[in-house]
Amino acid sequence: MDKKICVIGGGKWGQNHIKTLYQLGNLSGIVEANAERLNELLKIYPVEGFTELEQALERDFDGFTVAVPAPLHYEVAKKIIESGKSVLVEKPMTLSAETSAELVQLAEKNGVQLMVGHVLLFHPAIRKIKEIIDSGELGNLYYLYSNRLNLGTVRTEENVFWSFAPHDISVLDYFVGHPAEKIVSKGSKFLQENVYDVTITQLDYPNNVHAHIFVSWLHPFKEQRLVVIGSKGMVSFDDATAEKEIKFYDKRIDFEKGIPVKVENPTKIISYEQKQPLTEELKYFIEHLDKKIEIADGRSGLEVVKVLEEAEKKIQEG
Ligand SMILES: NC(=O)c1ccc[n+]([C@@H]2O[C@H](COP(=O)([O-])OP(=O)(O)OC[C@H]3O[C@@H](n4cnc5c(N)ncnc54)[C@H](O)[C@@H]3O)[C@@H](O)[C@H]2O)c1
Repeated sequence: MDKKICVIGGGKWGQNHIKTLYQLGNLSGIVEANAERLNELLKIYPVEGFTELEQALERDFDGFTVAVPAPLHYEVAKKIIESGKSVLVEKPMTLSAETSAELVQLAEKNGVQLMVGHVLLFHPAIRKIKEIIDSGELGNLYYLYSNRLNLGTVRTEENVFWSFAPHDISVLDYFVGHPAEKIVSKGSKFLQENVYDVTITQLDYPNNVHAHIFVSWLHPFKEQRLVVIGSKGMVSFDDATAEKEIKFYDKRIDFEKGIPVKVENPTKIISYEQKQPLTEELKYFIEHLDKKIEIADGRSGLEVVKVLEEAEKKIQEG
């Protein structure tokens, strides 16, 4: 593939963009504000390097990925879009629904693609579960939940919901095929005065579909569990286990003569392709530099930010 991509921000996560794009043969530039860090990266990846975005915008790159700290997403993405180039912005898209909506409109006006780094939407297990849901095997969707629990990484500027939940919101919206309509959220803080460590958020979707997201960085073990419950069957997946199995539970409650009866058949393990989500995400972005983005597009990124904002409001209200 001959598309030339420039990565903005070569920190902890940005270096994964850099490495993956290099492996794909599409890495052509790196913008890293820290000159020392930039030089280290250029020793490993011999591409064009810049300390300022403006220098890179003068070159002929086909697209940009943005992995700078979240408070800078808006201004960096805006400059790229205004220069007429397509961009993949890391999650969360921006820190407010207002600025996210502005980026969506700006991208449409400038005829460029805007994608958000909701990498789980490119996880082969998530794709497989979506396939199972869409095939009707689970029947009508009833309830979904996502637990993202671990000890650390504790942030000092953003709460655990902003830090962990963008992925969960994006996955639940993707599974349901619609953004949530109502949000209720509660948070608890222990470690710092103004930063919530544990939050539990309930989301109501159309057609009586409900969900919750439970996130914590103050938890004795790692769990990244997703459960989907339907009228005919149920599915679970935990990305934190060694096996990373998708389990299909042939279980449901039937009513016989008005009495609820448990139906339980053997549980099946569902196989799925082994692929790197970030590689799939970046390949998708490159393939859609000039085509409409359908997965993790700007509009779905905006819906995620709306939920983050609404949940934050509810958490603060107590
Ligand atoms: N999709 C995911 O799973 C995932 C995982 C981790 C982080 N992230 C996101 O990636 C982003 C970066 O996170 P991180 O952990 O790598 O942060 P980081 O602080 O490790 O790295 C940010 C880098 O950006 C550089 N930088 C800052 N301002 C810049 C500018 N104007 N131009 C160029 N470079 C600049 C910094 O020098 C630093 O090297 C965040 O938005 C975070 O939410 C996404």
